[in-house]
Amino acid sequence: MKKGVMRPGHVQIRVLDMDEAVKHYVDLLGLIEMDRDDQGRVYLKAWTEVDKFSVVLREADVAGMDFMGFKCLNEEVVDTLRAELIEFGCEVEDIPAGELKDCGHRVRFVAPTGHAFELFATKQQTGKWGVGNRNPEAWPRGLQGMQANRFDHCLLYGPNLDRTLELFRDVLGFDLAEQVVAPDGKRVAQFLTASMKAHDVAFIDHPEPGKFHHASFFLETWNDVLKAADLISMTNTSIDIGPTRHGLTHGQTIYFFDPSGNRNEVFAGGDYHYPDHEPVTWDASELGKAIFYHDRQLNERFLTVLT
Ligand SMILES: [Fe+2]
Repeated sequence: MKKGVMRPGHVQIRVLDMDEAVKHYVDLLGLIEMDRDDQGRVYLKAWTEVDKFSVVLREADVAGMDFMGFKCLNEEVVDTLRAELIEFGCEVEDIPAGELKDCGHRVRFVAPTGHAFELFATKQQTGKWGVGNRNPEAWPRGLQGMQANRFDHCLLYGPNLDRTLELFRDVLGFDLAEQVVAPDGKRVAQFLTASMKAHDVAFIDHPEPGKFHHASFFLETWNDVLKAADLISMTNTSIDIGPTRHGLTHGQTIYFFDPSGNRNEVFAGGDYHYPDHEPVTWDASELGKAIFYHDRQLNERFLTVLT
């Protein structure tokens, strides 16, 4: 049941070299630099997003994800869910307004997979970049690289998937859209949605907590995914796999790495989800096809390279 969590609002990614990272996320992915703060963090957005930023880059010694934030309908939702998170057994941390520039109060908690998440309701809205809300043109001129449309989801690796599903479903109102189930009935992958999208966040069972597999950005068409592949080659960017299609969610996809080793995905298409949909289930015996629909076999790097 929906409880007022709307969408992925932001992800803070650790990078080893800020200049190289900005070049990657701006010139290649096509995100737009919106701001910087006195900690040296860089704030980026994709052009269709109405909020001021969705990706925050922080320079650090180790790559990975600091946290992922979900935007809620209003502050009352954040307050209600804060109380329910505590009741569930989560420790919550209140991050004051302004700690992220032009973002309101955030409630941070750690999921049983070891990942930090946040809920917030207030962030400056700058509107769709280059077109606005009034008689908007089809797309803005001046977009770079892959012209990413929006930050779409993260895929995260960690333990305790059952308890994490309870947290996201029962407390935060997400639905289980897709899953991979082992022969013994254990769920080894879960794709969760707060919306009509095939996933807003996804988890793969993994013994080490808090690992980051990828941040994903939406493109409009399969042809855009092919163009992304061209750009990856033109820039000698480290590629993981693709262009191909997923069995899970049926998205058309390509994976590559930022200069710090964080994996990125850009994808197009994919399934949709309504609250009355039963979860789509893939058997673990079909995992190759579930992940890479055409190759039907797993690439070791895809499973094991994490930040
Ligand atoms: Fe993905």
